[in-house]
Amino acid sequence: MKIIRTKNYEEMSLEAAKIMAAQIVLKPDAVLGLATGSSPIGLYDNLVKWNENGDLDFSAIRSVNLDEYCGLDGKNDQSYRYFMDTHLFNRVNIDKANTNVPNGKAADYAAEGARYDELIASLGGIDMQLLGIGPDGHIGFNEPDEFFTKETHVVDLDPSTIEANARFFASADDVPRQAVTMGMGGIMGAKKVLLIASGASKKEILEKALFGPITPEVPASLLQLHPDLTVVCAVD
Ligand code: GLP
Repeated sequence: MKIIRTKNYEEMSLEAAKIMAAQIVLKPDAVLGLATGSSPIGLYDNLVKWNENGDLDFSAIRSVNLDEYCGLDGKNDQSYRYFMDTHLFNRVNIDKANTNVPNGKAADYAAEGARYDELIASLGGIDMQLLGIGPDGHIGFNEPDEFFTKETHVVDLDPSTIEANARFFASADDVPRQAVTMGMGGIMGAKKVLLIASGASKKEILEKALFGPITPEVPASLLQLHPDLTVVCAVD
């Protein structure tokens, strides 16, 4: 595990963006595992800037996102598809056909989970998975539980997650209660994992995840077993 401590959100975003940009330069058709939330916005802004000035080419990049709210389609401005389009995909020369987000409106979520895992396998697996961390230690939407779930699956969101994500909605009542998320198998199967975290409120959970017991009660703690984990944080 490599930990890069940075001073603030801007520096975290720059250092993490450099790592993702290096992946893109080294493998122009890389499969990027992408994340939503406030943590990656600055990172995406840097990638957009480097794409605009001609230093970074997304034309052959493929992407798979971690998760999506159940019941929201891509046109809903709270959906993670919409987030990705507005923060990254619409702003760089990526082929939208090569971008993938779980279908929040699937009629059969078990079938959607199987489809998503097959898709990841058919792309040859994820080269670099970007992750934020939730206040309860969730990654993607893998919430604290009695066991780790390997496959892409539907989860009931934890009350603390609903509360944390309510800031993006009109009220907590509007936050969907369920989401489809890549499982821990998909995340751990990525060749490289890049975890970012900023703000004092993330300090304790980050320490628990990186140095505490490996337990499904803190899903991110499983990352301790990943052979190529880089953490870029600004939590002091
Ligand atoms: C959501 C996402 C996670 C993200 C987490 C933290 O629940 N599903 O992928 O890591 O929020 O978000 P933030 O970066 O806004 O703290």
